[in-house]
Amino acid sequence: MTTLPRLTALQLLPLPFSDLQQSLETHFEVIRLWESADKANTLKTVAGRVHILLTSAMTPTRAELIDQLPALKAICSMGVGFDAIDVEYAQSKGIPVSNTPDVLNDCVADLAFSLVLSCARQVVRGDQLVRSGQWGQAPALPLGRSVHHKKMGIVGLGRIGHAIAQRAAGFSMTIGYHNRTERTESPYTYFPSLKALAEWSDFLVIATVGGAQTRHLVNREVLQALGPKGIIVNIARGSVIDEQALIDCLHNGEVGGAGLDVFEHEPHVPDALKQLPNVVLLPHIGSATTETRRAMASLVLENAFSFLQHGHLTTPIPTES
Ligand code: 8YV
Repeated sequence: MTTLPRLTALQLLPLPFSDLQQSLETHFEVIRLWESADKANTLKTVAGRVHILLTSAMTPTRAELIDQLPALKAICSMGVGFDAIDVEYAQSKGIPVSNTPDVLNDCVADLAFSLVLSCARQVVRGDQLVRSGQWGQAPALPLGRSVHHKKMGIVGLGRIGHAIAQRAAGFSMTIGYHNRTERTESPYTYFPSLKALAEWSDFLVIATVGGAQTRHLVNREVLQALGPKGIIVNIARGSVIDEQALIDCLHNGEVGGAGLDVFEHEPHVPDALKQLPNVVLLPHIGSATTETRRAMASLVLENAFSFLQHGHLTTPIPTES
């Protein structure tokens, strides 16, 4: 029986299931960086023998770290978004990077829809009223807004955007979208202008990638176009919306409500947002179900094992151009 060379994996954070973590440690020498009290020193000691780096969408993995690891051959990240990773830089050095696409589409779309419903139907405010014993005493909740048969605008009709559109169709909504380029195969109405999409939409759902190319794509002008009856939902990245402009517009009644799972400077959430009644705020839990996180962690393992056995990743991020 041939034995494979034992490669070394540097792990920035544990896989969230002990059997999967165990499996990784059976096949690799694993350096558990998250446990190190002096990470800089641990890195210095092991740097020369790290072959695979295990990271996540939430763990910044910049050129500086990549440069510290001269034997690095591949990066496996848990999460679909990769704005926290210098992917192009790694690829330019011949280091492929994998993410975990598709396995979280439905889960994130479910959460987007729960934010749509929570905002429109005041689920959280209603719950607070009941729990506080104020039902029947305090003034009744103001009326909510219907979701069914309304117009939903999706910013970023990718794989998650499509899963959101499928759910919207189940609520008899009309669907429009904005992408840099039209998806000619899509049955939904394309808006080349984001402002025009916002003007048309009752609900504007952000499902686009993060990073420099989409930073503050949703600015004050777009928010004002959405208007006082409009509700914005963000399950993508906080950086896509100008957060200060959103706070101002919610405060002045220029936007009707917001459901946010992501923020510009996580885990910091501005107090001004927390004080608004017309928002629902979540701690970045789009993919946070047992089933989905297990599928994501399994795909990280699959990539690492594939690299070990065959020298290539199973879900590599394509190179630009
Ligand atoms: C998670 C995410 O927060 O996939 C992404 O891009 O933002 C989320 O699924 C993260 O990846 C968990 O590790």
